[in-house]
Amino acid sequence: MNKICLVGAGRVGEAAAQILAKEELCREIVLVGVREGVAQGTALDLMESAPLFGFDTQVRGDTNLDAVAGADVVVIAAGLPRKPGMSRSDVLDANAPIVARTAQAVARLAPRALIVVVTNPVDVLTHLAWSESGFARERVIGLSGTLDAARMAGFIAAEAGLSVRDVRALVIGGHGDTMVPLLRYSTISGIPIGEFLSEAAMERVVQRTRDGGAEILALKKTSSAYDAPGAAIATMIDAVARNRRRILPCVCVLDGEYGESCVSMGVPAVIGARGVEDIIELSLNDEERTRIRQSADAIRADLERLHAVRGGD
Ligand code: 2OP
Repeated sequence: MNKICLVGAGRVGEAAAQILAKEELCREIVLVGVREGVAQGTALDLMESAPLFGFDTQVRGDTNLDAVAGADVVVIAAGLPRKPGMSRSDVLDANAPIVARTAQAVARLAPRALIVVVTNPVDVLTHLAWSESGFARERVIGLSGTLDAARMAGFIAAEAGLSVRDVRALVIGGHGDTMVPLLRYSTISGIPIGEFLSEAAMERVVQRTRDGGAEILALKKTSSAYDAPGAAIATMIDAVARNRRRILPCVCVLDGEYGESCVSMGVPAVIGARGVEDIIELSLNDEERTRIRQSADAIRADLERLHAVRGGD
């Protein structure tokens, strides 16, 4: 992979760029930030770690959105983060124009790129990036379940007193209060987690996963999470860059999968060189199906609000 561009030179972009550079997943990483000097300074700082990590990836900063030109992957992480007590939907009106403008620039200057949306509310804004870019749906994904499932796996490991290395968790649905942590599809070394955790412990895991981002925001007060989001972004891009065909839960534009259309939501997807190479339709029980429908309805409500704000376009 030649070029990855991270639009939004905040801490999430920086955390992702550090991992992408160390892994040498591309020849050049460009950080784009609106505040003069911030992206350039962050890039210089990352480049000064190169001798210590031994990577030859070139990292540079820019303030101009035209820097997405020719990128193979564009990560859209720009926008307002939420403040303590806010939901991710509360920053929709502020962030929608930023994502729309960036998606339009990518369509114009990087027509072969894969778009990875991080900006919240990510489900709605992934749909907006898809509609504004005009890209095929397999080339627009959002960061949700890969991060949420990592948090869930960590909470399962802590409750069970076992290594995270053996935990596989799965989270689908919206990246917010309506997310659907799937206990039935979570295992430790292939063993269902019900063999290790009580009902009460599993409920604690589900709730803490749903509150994952908010818990960190409440502790840090002036910043939301960035290390785990950065690692999740790098995991998704690694699957594309190395054509791994990994099953990673991420926001995809749905066209009938799970009975849902005209909405983007977190689902298990096969991620490889072409982006979303397949969407896995899990067999869900009644409760899981109901929760998925509720999640889709909540995202559609935000989409309708967005269309109203943007003049129905
Ligand atoms: C989170 O859950 C930033 O939405 C992201 O931390």
